[in-house]
Amino acid sequence: MLNYEKIKNDFPLLSKQINDKKIIYFDSSCMSLKPRQVIEAMNEYYFEFPACAGRSSHRLGELVTKKIKGARQAVARFINADEQEIVFTRNTTEGINLLANSLDLRNGDLVLTTDKEHNSNLIPWQVLIKKKGIRHEIVKSNDDSVFNFEKYKELVRGVKLVSMVHTSNLDGATIPAKEIIKIAHENGALVFLDAAQSAPHKKIDVRDLDVDFMAFSGHKMLGPTGTGVFYGKYNLLEKLEPFMVGGDTVEYSTYTDHKMLQSPEKFEAGLQDYAGIIGLGEAIKYLEAIGFDNIREQELKLNRYITEEISKFPKIKIIGPSDSALRSGIISFYIDGTDMHQTTLILDEMSNVMIRSGQHCVHSWFNDRKIKNSARVSLYFYNTMDEAKIFIETFNKIIKIL
Ligand SMILES: Cc1ncc(COP(=O)(O)O)c(C=O)c1O
Repeated sequence: MLNYEKIKNDFPLLSKQINDKKIIYFDSSCMSLKPRQVIEAMNEYYFEFPACAGRSSHRLGELVTKKIKGARQAVARFINADEQEIVFTRNTTEGINLLANSLDLRNGDLVLTTDKEHNSNLIPWQVLIKKKGIRHEIVKSNDDSVFNFEKYKELVRGVKLVSMVHTSNLDGATIPAKEIIKIAHENGALVFLDAAQSAPHKKIDVRDLDVDFMAFSGHKMLGPTGTGVFYGKYNLLEKLEPFMVGGDTVEYSTYTDHKMLQSPEKFEAGLQDYAGIIGLGEAIKYLEAIGFDNIREQELKLNRYITEEISKFPKIKIIGPSDSALRSGIISFYIDGTDMHQTTLILDEMSNVMIRSGQHCVHSWFNDRKIKNSARVSLYFYNTMDEAKIFIETFNKIIKIL
């Protein structure tokens, strides 16, 4: 059971008001709110020990090094990985670019994605088509937006890398990663999972999944902006050639040569966002204390209610599976021929309800179907049924004028 009073106390934004009304934040897929524990941990770094990790052996330097190690251990525990398998990045996008530019992909190598990839897991491969002559194939979803296994089994033969979004930010649907990975491995392919939308909402065990590479963003899971994680199996990370190198990536250098460090150091070039990484460690502790069962229960309850209510309007179309239980905390909807931006603006203006409209960086999906855009509600455990009711009441008024 969630203790909402404590949660409200922990998240400063939940007590803020605009025009004497509380803010209803339904845009957590884009950016989650931050609890004060995360903010305070970052402030502590800046106030108490704003030094370098790993380089300076004075007391402040030692303290930062210890805190960064603690954060890395927390991330490793969170996904059941080893410490050396955790590379700190700025976000999911950087993790995917790290992989795309470090993996030995060559002319003719095939990368397989779904049809619901965020631009961050599409554009890096499109660039490599031009640069290196790799090939790219797409597994189109079934009509109900569910993963098409038959098509996947056909296409996976001869693939070098399966690179797929675990939970879609477009519709909240999650692919059956374990089976997908098993089949990929039987066919000699490596697998990368874009966990930007799954890591904040469900327990991920990289050992159990047997996934080769994975990336996620700290700022979507209570962590600071500009923090992310790239995971790789250690034996695979050893083989990757880092694409960004320099300070902190080498054991030594001469005027003509250098000796590269092992993972994760060889991937973390230059001074890092120490405050952010420490904040991310706190975010993970906070999420663990809340518990993924509680997170899922709250999201399911709110998603079911909102789905039932907005489905009462025949002109509304919800993207993704009709069963709200299969859409995590996301309700993405549109009206044929209507620009959904207006809906979003009025919701904000009338009731401080903050949702997002647009193509959510999945332009390819919208363009293929000639759908203008969608309005997307994205929930997290700190949202309440009262908030969902205010959203529906306001939406009921707006829909009459759309
Ligand atoms: C599924 C998915 N992948 C990748 C990203 C990119 O995340 P970031 O901007 O943090 O790199 C997002 C962000 O919304 C996302 O939802």
